[in-house]
Amino acid sequence: MAEITEETTRFLRADAVEILEPSADRVVPPCPFAGPGRCGGCDWQHASLDAQRRLKADVVAEQLKRLAGIDWKGTVEEVPGAPDGLGWRTRVQFAVNRDGVPGLRRHRSHDIEPIDACLIAHAEVENVGAEVMNWRHASSVEVIASSGGDQAVVVAPKPRRTVAVPDLDTSVAVFVDEGKGRTRVVHGRNHLTERVGERDFQVTGSGFWQVHPGSAATLLGTVLEFADPKPGEWALDLYCGVGLFAAGLAEAVGPEGAVFGVESESVSVRDAERNLRDLPQARFARGRVENALDHFDIERADLVVVDPPRAGLGREVVNRLVTLQAGRIVYVSCDPATLARDLAWFGEQGYRLADLRAFDGFPMTHHVECVALLINDPDGVPTGERATDDVSQAGED
Ligand SMILES: C[S@@+](CC[C@H](N)C(=O)[O-])C[C@H]1O[C@@H](n2cnc3c(N)ncnc32)[C@H](O)[C@@H]1O
Repeated sequence: MAEITEETTRFLRADAVEILEPSADRVVPPCPFAGPGRCGGCDWQHASLDAQRRLKADVVAEQLKRLAGIDWKGTVEEVPGAPDGLGWRTRVQFAVNRDGVPGLRRHRSHDIEPIDACLIAHAEVENVGAEVMNWRHASSVEVIASSGGDQAVVVAPKPRRTVAVPDLDTSVAVFVDEGKGRTRVVHGRNHLTERVGERDFQVTGSGFWQVHPGSAATLLGTVLEFADPKPGEWALDLYCGVGLFAAGLAEAVGPEGAVFGVESESVSVRDAERNLRDLPQARFARGRVENALDHFDIERADLVVVDPPRAGLGREVVNRLVTLQAGRIVYVSCDPATLARDLAWFGEQGYRLADLRAFDGFPMTHHVECVALLINDPDGVPTGERATDDVSQAGED
């Protein structure tokens, strides 16, 4: 029995409020806060992990077919580090109600569901205990646990308010979010250390880092497998964060090659420069990818790695990347709809999808991470049917 919660001109949204005949894939949600109208953090707890991955593979396949005319029959692969799909989230942002009680937003709502534990949060996030503390005058509290063993909370105060930070373990760093990507240290070091293989990455404040503990290594490995960087090549790492992919690319292209990273957050650019200071062939610039390539006169590249936010690249960036004549473009995406739209545009301009792997970087939710390899093949059969801007969140529904 479904209760309709929202109507649009094209579809209805509904909650399943009573199950008359359960699917073989249906399970009792492990979290007591999951369910219709409850916590919006996990929307797929009622399906087995296998079924979640099959559904995600269907979503990726449907988007590729509908928006790019591409047939894809792959699977969604497990990311190592959370075999039961729980305890993986190394960064959790809690919203705070007017009484200072933290919780998570209800599904498609601004209302807050108070919770005293989060089952998908990493054990080191839970150990901070932020959910059971009072955060009066805060609008949100983010708890971060890094693979290097650091923990931090990032507190965002309400406008013109000061938050009295509750008593935390002294090893937990405290940052205040001052907006516009700036954070101020109240206690401890201003950065966390993330470790991938033999390399440490410094991530200052709440700069971007992959949330699943196995994602950074899995995505880096796949990017390098697809990009196949060779000594002496010129590579771009666009939307580079603190330099995760640039590090692997720079090691592979060696001192005869070059890697140029572009990132919009200045704090992340500084981290990337520091993280790769032993690899002078890697250089970084702060800027928006939309205009940085023109600004820095980038005219060619052997290979390009892109990892944009959910909005994807968009037509202008796709058109500009095509002018670089790169042999390989590796596209890391957290939204299969915008990925498919952009692949169609690349397809119209001679880039063929050569491979695509999908990863379950966000178990218990509808989110999925994809890595696509595009090959410059102007004589090949174009893959793309005409792309549209209509990429309305098929994955969510
Ligand atoms: C999905 S993250 C990827 C970061 C990095 N590749 C990694 O895996 O750690 C996207 C990054 O792009 C940056 N970003 C967002 N919009 C951008 C833009 N228009 N131009 C350049 N960087 C942007 C964000 O600050 C973020 O660091």
